[in-house]
Amino acid sequence: MHAIHQYQEFFITYLENQKINKAPKNLYEPIDYILSLGGKRMRPVLTLLSAEVFDADYKKALPAAMAVEVFHNFSLVHDDIMDDAPLRRGKQTVHEKWDINAGILSGDAMLILAYQYFEQYEPIVFRDLAKLFSKTAIEVCEGQQWDVDFETRTDVTIPEYLKMIEYKTAVLVAAAMKMGAIIANTSVDNANLIYDFGLNLGLAFQLQDDYLDAFGDPETFGKQVGGDIIENKKTYLYLKAIEFSTPKKASELEKLFSLQMEDNSEKIETAKTVFNQSGASKATQEAIEMYTFKAFETLEKMTISEEKKNILKTFGANLMGRKV
Ligand code: IPE
Ligand code: IPE
Ligand code: MG
Ligand code: MG
Ligand code: MG
Repeated sequence: MHAIHQYQEFFITYLENQKINKAPKNLYEPIDYILSLGGKRMRPVLTLLSAEVFDADYKKALPAAMAVEVFHNFSLVHDDIMDDAPLRRGKQTVHEKWDINAGILSGDAMLILAYQYFEQYEPIVFRDLAKLFSKTAIEVCEGQQWDVDFETRTDVTIPEYLKMIEYKTAVLVAAAMKMGAIIANTSVDNANLIYDFGLNLGLAFQLQDDYLDAFGDPETFGKQVGGDIIENKKTYLYLKAIEFSTPKKASELEKLFSLQMEDNSEKIETAKTVFNQSGASKATQEAIEMYTFKAFETLEKMTISEEKKNILKTFGANLMGRKV
């Protein structure tokens, strides 16, 4: 096993050796741009880590880790178009720096490039990876569509929200880990358990993403703070605030989240005050902890050493403390 920062370094070295410098440049430059912008590299690190948890060499998992990160970046380019987001990782989003068409097409190309990385595996492993990947990718699309549909709905429920974030975010974290298990050829039980671990970690991760979108530090967060409020996203913060408010306050918040405005600063401040005063912020923090601990529980069922369980737990605990 290696330390988390080492997996990060192994992955970044691999990524830097993959530079695609081809014509037409308006197709490939945005791809290079978004992949070089950094980010936490959480999903590829989890693929490498998971491979070693199940006793394979991390090197064998590098192409799959790359596939997952390229897919993730594709989803971000398209997500930023859909969310009308100006900033990503502290820099201009692809559609702002180029244009929407460049974002659409380089995103499409990244999705194909991601698949191509699986071609490096022998047929049986290729089949299992591609199958998992296809299932995951279509679920991400379903989650993204729900996310957008919810913007204009006023009757979104917490179970619907949880399903939406499971699909748009958690399944990819889960699949990233299961890919490591597939490459290591571990037992079906272990592969399913690591998927469940990743799924719960992914739910905690998206809940925290929602929290940081409202309460993150604009200096370090790297995205437009308040973006979800501007876009009327029905996040856990919003849904809990509605639940905890008097009918009068709830209908005011509902109204606020049906408007599209020129100047959003007042809307953002009002929403954040309601999130805090209603207890929604606290409830979100509690949900983040709950899903993280739920992830830890699945580890107990796994036939791996205590040392390995502790590495996975430390990873989950560190994610809870993240600010970006
Ligand atoms: C952002 O993912 C999209 C979500 C699913 C919340 P990350 O927060 O992992 O983004 P990067 O790759 O670190 O920038
Ligand atoms: C993103 O959800 C999920 C995917 C990209 C599939 P968000 O829209 O919350 O992600 P950020 O906050 O823009 O990174
Ligand atoms: Mg977004
Ligand atoms: Mg989005
Ligand atoms: Mg977000």
